[in-house]
Amino acid sequence: MAASVPKIDGLKSLGNPLEDAKRAAAYRAVDENLKFDDHKIIGIGSGSTVVYVAERIGQYLHDTNFCEVTSKFICIPTGFQSRNLILDNKLQLGSIEQYPRIDIAFDGADEVDENLQLIKGGGACLFQEKLVSTSAKTFIIVADSRKKSPKHLGRNWKQGVPIEIVPSSYVRVKNDLLEQLHAKKVDIRQGGSAKAGPVVTDNNNFIIDADFGEISDPRKLHREIKLLVGVVETGLFIDNASKAYFGNSDGSVEVMEK
Ligand code: A5P
Repeated sequence: MAASVPKIDGLKSLGNPLEDAKRAAAYRAVDENLKFDDHKIIGIGSGSTVVYVAERIGQYLHDTNFCEVTSKFICIPTGFQSRNLILDNKLQLGSIEQYPRIDIAFDGADEVDENLQLIKGGGACLFQEKLVSTSAKTFIIVADSRKKSPKHLGRNWKQGVPIEIVPSSYVRVKNDLLEQLHAKKVDIRQGGSAKAGPVVTDNNNFIIDADFGEISDPRKLHREIKLLVGVVETGLFIDNASKAYFGNSDGSVEVMEK
C-alpha cells in the first residue's frame, strides 16, 4: 500500500455506524483483491456501498506513487450512478462494448446466502450489474453485515426478487409470475414521491418485485423466471460472486469465500 493511502485501522469514524460498516467492507475488499499488476479493467457496481470502492480506488490511483499507472486503468460502470462515481473519483471511464472482458468487478448486494448466491436490483440496476459481473474474471461483493442471510435468500430481503422487464409485457409477466411460478405477491416498482408511475431503468425498462418467500433453490427459480416472455434479466445472481466482504460498524469485516 502506498504511504498516503489511509490505513483502514486508523480511519476516523464517519459519524454513522452503517456508513462505517460499508466503508470498512469496501476498503478491505479493494485492498485485498485489486492487483495493480494484473487488473487493468475494473467493473464498478451501483448502490451506496460501492461508493467507497470507487473512493478507495481513487485514493490508490491518485497517490503520487501510483500516478504512472493511473492512465492504464479503465473502469466500467453498471449504470448512471456508477458512471458518475467513476467520473467523480477521477477514474478513467470505459464501456462494456469497448472492454467486454473485465479483470475484476466490485458491487453491492441486497442479500447474500451461505453459497454466495445473491439478490440484487434494489437500486434497479440489475441488468447492467449482471452484464458487468458475468463479464468479470473475479466478482467481489461489498456489503454491511445486514445483507448476510442466515440461510436462504428471501429471509432478510422481503421486497421480493427484482426482475427487469420490457414495459409492454408487465401485465403478462405479472400474471405468469403469479399463476405459473406461484409468486406470493408481485409489484411493478413505483417511483413513489420522486416520480408518478413506475420506475424506469437505465435501459428504459420496468422493474417487477416478485415475492417468493424463502428461496431454497435460487438457480431453478432464476431459470424459470428467465424463460417468461418479457423478462430481460432477474436479480438472482447465481454462481457469480467469488467472495463477499461484510462490514460491521466497529470496522471489523467478515469475509465469505467459495
Ligand atoms: C443495485 O441495483 C443493487 O443491486 C445494489 O447493488 C444493491 O442494492 C446494494 O446497494 P447498497 O450498497 O446501497 O446496499
